[in-house]
Amino acid sequence: MLRTLTIIAALFAVAAAASAVELTESQRTAIEERIAPMGEVCLQGDSSCGGPAVAASSGPRSGKEVFDAACMACHSTGAGGAPILGDVDAWAPRIAKGMDTLHKHGLEGIPGTGMMAKGGCVNCSDEEVIAAVDYMVEGSQ
Ligand code: HEC
Repeated sequence: MLRTLTIIAALFAVAAAASAVELTESQRTAIEERIAPMGEVCLQGDSSCGGPAVAASSGPRSGKEVFDAACMACHSTGAGGAPILGDVDAWAPRIAKGMDTLHKHGLEGIPGTGMMAKGGCVNCSDEEVIAAVDYMVEGSQ
C-alpha cells in the first residue's frame, strides 16, 4: 500500500514538472514587455522617468518663473488686450489702481476679459501669482 502511494506521488511529481512552463530568457523578457503597464506615473521631482527634475519641496517659484510659465503667453504678446510686460503706458493706469487691486485681479481674474483667475495657472499658489504680478509691475514702470 505504501509502495503504491509512493508511486502515485512520484507520478504526480513528474506530471507537475512536465506542466511547468520553462521559459527562455528572451521569452520571459517578451512576456514582461507585453504585460508591462501602459503608462508610468511620473511624480514631480522624479528625474528617473523623463519628468522635469523639479523638487516638490523647492518652495514657491519666483515671480519671473511664474510669469515665464503661466503669464507670458498673453502678457508678452498682448493677446486679448493683455497689458504687455514693459509697456509703461499700458501699465500706468493699472498701477494707479493700487497693488491690492492688481493682486486681487491676478488672483481672481477680471470677469468678461481674457484674464482668468490666476491667469489660468491652476497649480500656482496665491503667493506665486502675487509674485508674478509684482514682477510684471516692477518691469513696467
Ligand atoms: C489668456 C491670457 C492671459 C493670461 C495667461 C494671463 N493674463 Fe493677465 N490679463 C489678461 C488680459 C486680457 C488682461 C486685461 C484685462 C482687462 O483689463 O481688460 C490681463 C490683466 C492682468 C492684470 C491687470 C489687472 C488690472 O487690474 O488692471 C494683472 C495684474 C494680470 N493680468 C496678471 C496676470 C498674471 C499674474 C498671470 C499669470 C499667472 C496672467 N495675468 C496671465 C490676459 C491674461
